[in-house]
Amino acid sequence: MLEFKNQLPFIENTSLQEVIKVCETPFYLYSQDKIIQKVEMTKKVLGENIFFSVKSNSNQAILKLMQSLNIGADVVSLGELKRSLSAGFDPSKIIFEGVGKSKDDLTFAIQKNIRLINTESLEEIKLLQSLALEQNKYVDIGVRLNPNIDGGTINKISTGKKTDKFGIEINEIENIINLMSDCKNLNLIGISCHIGSQISNINAYKNTFIEMKKSADKFSLSGINIKHVDLGGGFHVRYNKNDPEFKIENIKNELDDCFSKSNYELSFEPGRYLIAEAGILVTSIINAKQNGGINYLIVDAGMNTLVRPAMYNAYHEIEEITKKTDETMNYTVAGPICESSDIFVKNIHLTKQSIGDILIIKNTGAYGKVMSSTYNTRALPTEVLINGENFAIIYAPDKIEKNIEEDIIPSWL
Ligand SMILES: Cc1ncc(COP(=O)(O)O)c(C=O)c1O
Repeated sequence: MLEFKNQLPFIENTSLQEVIKVCETPFYLYSQDKIIQKVEMTKKVLGENIFFSVKSNSNQAILKLMQSLNIGADVVSLGELKRSLSAGFDPSKIIFEGVGKSKDDLTFAIQKNIRLINTESLEEIKLLQSLALEQNKYVDIGVRLNPNIDGGTINKISTGKKTDKFGIEINEIENIINLMSDCKNLNLIGISCHIGSQISNINAYKNTFIEMKKSADKFSLSGINIKHVDLGGGFHVRYNKNDPEFKIENIKNELDDCFSKSNYELSFEPGRYLIAEAGILVTSIINAKQNGGINYLIVDAGMNTLVRPAMYNAYHEIEEITKKTDETMNYTVAGPICESSDIFVKNIHLTKQSIGDILIIKNTGAYGKVMSSTYNTRALPTEVLINGENFAIIYAPDKIEKNIEEDIIPSWL
């Protein structure tokens, strides 16, 4: 995403140095052009029914861009639902998922007439029926099924095994069918699944498609006419050279094998795949030290800015901007947070770096800013969107003083 022109770093036609003049590090920077390319390519392969997983990057500028590309939104909380509406998504393009939707969440979703509420338990279906009856409405719903398939990803982002908390077990389909006959205000028109994130194993997709096709047929045979089959997101992104290659076209082949003879409308909920590679995290070196023979570069972004390395052992490649010599050194790049897990990467080779130099943490457009926190009482990161030779700040965080003021000390102290 970063290109060097006369040894100066550019994103699209914008000089990174120009952005640095007005934005304090650390900040996230997204390329609009990259996002558009990825969305268009995905639509070309998988069709038009793409619902961007808002949890991966919920900035309203990004949501507005997604919406302008004519894709929908997949939300997993009331907040994400409100954010998507505020960014201009038509309710008919919003799907509401989530294993824990409260009565208030569901009431709001019913009132807004969104496209589909995907339920994740029999209890939720019953609750939805009572709320729809109360509001005297007929509500289109889907059920998120748990196909009991191991996507081969790490446990922390696996969602499709029967012991995971998500979805309704596939062997409960009979119970769902029976329950629906008591739910006169609900119209079950869709099934969905999402077996996890960072899935590169084509067999896992294949097996999921087979289970979902069988499930849709089972509902349809019982007289419940399933129109939509939502096959989730989870498409793999290659974060570094050790990660496996993943070609979305290979999924398409499996998809055709499984569904070409049926009339179900297929849809997908990718997040990471659409935006991860369109984002970078720009950070400054604020300290350099040697401990136990290790060359530490301490940067101003930490696990509070990008939690993926600390939380999932994710390895994001890091690139230097300043190349003063050809001589490289072995570095460990760490954040400023008082936690030993606040390390971005160990043992990478960079040219000799000094305090004040800038580093780029790559492929951070997804699950970056959305998972950031004020841990250690540090400000949230700024976000910037690049469009050709223009750029705009799309999130300007509060000063940390605001965060400090938000605490309320009770009168007895
Ligand atoms: C229900 C649901 N759909 C879609 C996604 C998007 O996943 P990814 O960003 O890996 O495509 C997630 C994220 O885990 C999810 O929970």
